[in-house]
Amino acid sequence: MLTKKDSWIYCIQFISMGGIMGREYSLQEAVALALKAEKDSMDFYRRAASVAKDERAKKVLELLANEEVGHLKAFFAHYKGTEYGDVQSCINAPVDTKNPTYVKLEKAITEDMVEQKALELALFEEKECIGQYTQLAQGVVDPAVRAVFERIVQETQGHYALIESEYAHIMGMVHESDQDTFVRE
Ligand SMILES: [Fe+2]
Repeated sequence: MLTKKDSWIYCIQFISMGGIMGREYSLQEAVALALKAEKDSMDFYRRAASVAKDERAKKVLELLANEEVGHLKAFFAHYKGTEYGDVQSCINAPVDTKNPTYVKLEKAITEDMVEQKALELALFEEKECIGQYTQLAQGVVDPAVRAVFERIVQETQGHYALIESEYAHIMGMVHESDQDTFVRE
């Protein structure tokens, strides 16, 4: 069984190999991987939001979960596989509870560290996603699908900034806007 990271590497290698099984198949591999990543991400944020006690963090996690639904739908529109059925079945498909990030989240829940740990895990995952989608986009020839990857990279950068800001808030650190004021003075 390939891990998510192995799958990405495999996929990028596959795309760069070109030709062997045809471009369309490579494109569908990329879309399938992105779809799985978005589904995992959505499930992660939904679970974190459902158990977060801090109201503000809960809202941020809910917002992120909804944005991942949007990403999932954007990729699903280009997905030609049949394993999920329709888009709603894909959204409602069982959670991959063996996903390493999800496992870490569950551990944080039992340790009553959900907000802090969820945001830390999210920062790591969103950064990975930016790198992986940027690489994948370069191998995608179809302009419509490439545009989806590029748009989602931008939105994921927005997620990263939002999570970073919320993390600073949770940790009681000086907020970036306060820091700006401090620097200017
Ligand atoms: Fe996403």
